[in-house]
Amino acid sequence: MPPATTTLLLSLSLFLLFSASNAHNITRILAKHPEFSTFNHYLTVTHLAAEINRRETITVLALNNAAMSSLLSKQLPFYTLKNVLSLHVLVDYFGSKKLHQITNGTALTSTMFQATGAAPGSSGYINITDLKGGKVGFGAENNDGKLDALYVKAVEELPYNISVLQISQPLNSAEAEAPTAEPSQVNLTAIMSKQGCKAFADLLISSGADATFNQNIDGGLTVFCPTDPVIKDFMPKYKNLTASKKVSLLLYHGIPVYQSMQMLKTNNGIMNTLATDGANKYDFTIQNDGEVVTLETKVVTAKITGTLMDEEPLIVYKINKVLLPTELYKPVEAPAESPKPSKSKHKVVADGPQSDAPAESDPAADQTADNQNGVAGLDGRGLLMVLVSLCIGVSLI
Ligand SMILES: *[C@@H]1O[C@H](CO)[C@@H](O)[C@H](O)[C@H]1NC(C)=O
Ligand SMILES: *[C@@H]1O[C@H](CO)[C@@H](O)[C@H](O)[C@H]1NC(C)=O
Ligand SMILES: *[C@@H]1O[C@H](CO)[C@@H](O)[C@H](O)[C@H]1NC(C)=O
Ligand SMILES: *[C@@H]1O[C@H](CO)[C@@H](O)[C@H](O)[C@H]1NC(C)=O
Ligand SMILES: *[C@@H]1O[C@H](CO)[C@@H](O)[C@H](O)[C@H]1NC(C)=O
Ligand SMILES: *[C@@H]1O[C@H](CO)[C@@H](O)[C@H](O)[C@H]1NC(C)=O
Repeated sequence: MPPATTTLLLSLSLFLLFSASNAHNITRILAKHPEFSTFNHYLTVTHLAAEINRRETITVLALNNAAMSSLLSKQLPFYTLKNVLSLHVLVDYFGSKKLHQITNGTALTSTMFQATGAAPGSSGYINITDLKGGKVGFGAENNDGKLDALYVKAVEELPYNISVLQISQPLNSAEAEAPTAEPSQVNLTAIMSKQGCKAFADLLISSGADATFNQNIDGGLTVFCPTDPVIKDFMPKYKNLTASKKVSLLLYHGIPVYQSMQMLKTNNGIMNTLATDGANKYDFTIQNDGEVVTLETKVVTAKITGTLMDEEPLIVYKINKVLLPTELYKPVEAPAESPKPSKSKHKVVADGPQSDAPAESDPAADQTADNQNGVAGLDGRGLLMVLVSLCIGVSLI
């Protein structure tokens, strides 16, 4: 093995080791404490666990199974329960020491409920107050000054990343417990239609594929919709597909998990899609170069040009190419990508001969795109990954 490659491999493993040891995982932390198993379960199914893991400097006010029973006995709808639980996640670090040393003995601190934007006024704030005899009280800000819960104990503290503190009771909040719209009630095709993806939404409806998308929203769904000009260019090819292949192609544009931009940037790799069915893999590769995220099938490379909506568990991105699966289209043979300069400040990756839309076919999307705009090819990290895979391949032989 050439020394340069060895160094690369070494630094990569160090990088992996390093990043793995830094990340906190609330599910794993709570799993060590069976008395929080119900709370842990609901953090997972509401997707709050992923949100907690993604953030740094966070405090989780954990409820044991008895306290969770009392909360669950209110029989709140799922998304209301999610709001209540998000009120139990403080977006600041409070270790047990800091808790007992609050300046002036009382403080208001913001929660994840406040961060969702769903909380009216300051109802997403928690009052923490040091009480007589070393006690610490917690209450929602507009709860008539009532501090419902008391600090019980520190479950785990990783200063200043995550602190998990047990409190005695669920925090009451009329606002968090108010009825809330369910993401599954959002009309996915209507939203897409209004924001530059009407042609794609119409195809979903006419093919019946929209039902599969809708069924996946509650469990987590990421949609990549090619914008209207892109679909227009693609229509002759689309019409040539059989009805079932049309559905597969459309389902290929959804993945059955919620993937925020941050997650896409850090979880490069192969993704299964809604079209994946056993041996019919229908997968593609997510790749990023700094701020730019691309989706690579072996036929085409599409770029994310904007976020159309993001409300966990549903996120919808705009892309500048129709994703073509190898199950339906012939892979591009020779290395297809060669950077060439473009008229804009971004560099552009040229596609293989079978690509469906010119790289800049969607100026409208580019104008509306935010800082996710730009173009990525196989460089930097991508090149490193290829080198490392080659190297691993060689060492296996
Ligand atoms: C967190 O830990 C749980 C249980 O060990 C595991 O299933 C999950 O994949 C982990 N999440 C991350 C993001 O590593
Ligand atoms: C503490 O109280 C003093 C006097 O009332 C006030 O000036 C100061 O801003 C308070 N500090 C905090 C962090 O609330
Ligand atoms: C917190 O609640 C206590 C008890 O109602 C109250 O005395 C205190 O002023 C509140 N703290 C803040 C910062 O609002
Ligand atoms: C907290 O996170 C930072 C940055 O991710 C990391 O360097 C540090 O080691 C972490 N601390 C603990 C106690 O895990
Ligand atoms: C979604 O909106 C479209 C119009 O944009 C309408 O035709 C369709 O019936 C709506 N679907 C649901 C489930 O409400
Ligand atoms: C559609 O299929 C016909 C017959 O196989 C072929 O000749 C034609 O080129 C195809 N059109 C497109 C746009 O792929």
